[in-house]
Amino acid sequence: MADERTFIMVKPDGVHRGLVGEIIKRFEQKGFKLVALKFVHASEDHLKKHYEALSSKPFFGGLVKYMSSGPLVPMVWEGKNVVKTGRIILGETNPFDSKPGTIRGDFGIEVGRNICHGSDSVESAKIEVALWFHDAELLNWTPVATPWIYE
Ligand code: RTP
Ligand code: MG
Repeated sequence: MADERTFIMVKPDGVHRGLVGEIIKRFEQKGFKLVALKFVHASEDHLKKHYEALSSKPFFGGLVKYMSSGPLVPMVWEGKNVVKTGRIILGETNPFDSKPGTIRGDFGIEVGRNICHGSDSVESAKIEVALWFHDAELLNWTPVATPWIYE
């Protein structure tokens, strides 16, 4: 379905390292549609909700500190198979396991500094989009290139 959505977020290391444009570029060039974007410094409480499923992991405290240490760029991208394709564009969780050509493979070294977040399922994407954006922030528009991307 071409209206599938995913939640992608540049992490503080991606922002500090000047990779915001590079990350947006990869999703744009693929043909996905930008639905929402903002620049925020999120609270620890908000990030605890975002990574709720990982709360029992030993790295949870460090993860929340890292994610709340600086600005983030949360985004919503839309398109056919965008959740799975988004994860392929990001690479594996650990940059060491990520192939060149992926964001984490090209720009990262350690798992705790892996540059960008991406939803792992259509269901979690819905939850994450609702956690980071109000409905009114999700824009309804049709890129003129749509018939040149979808047949
Ligand atoms: P994300 O949610 O950020 O897109 O990452 P992911 O799905 O690839 O991996 P996930 O299991 O959801 O883990 C979330 C983030 O926690 C950090 N992490 N550290 N030290 C560790 O072993 C470890 N494992 C995960 C990473 O920053 C990972 O992206
Ligand atoms: Mg995850």
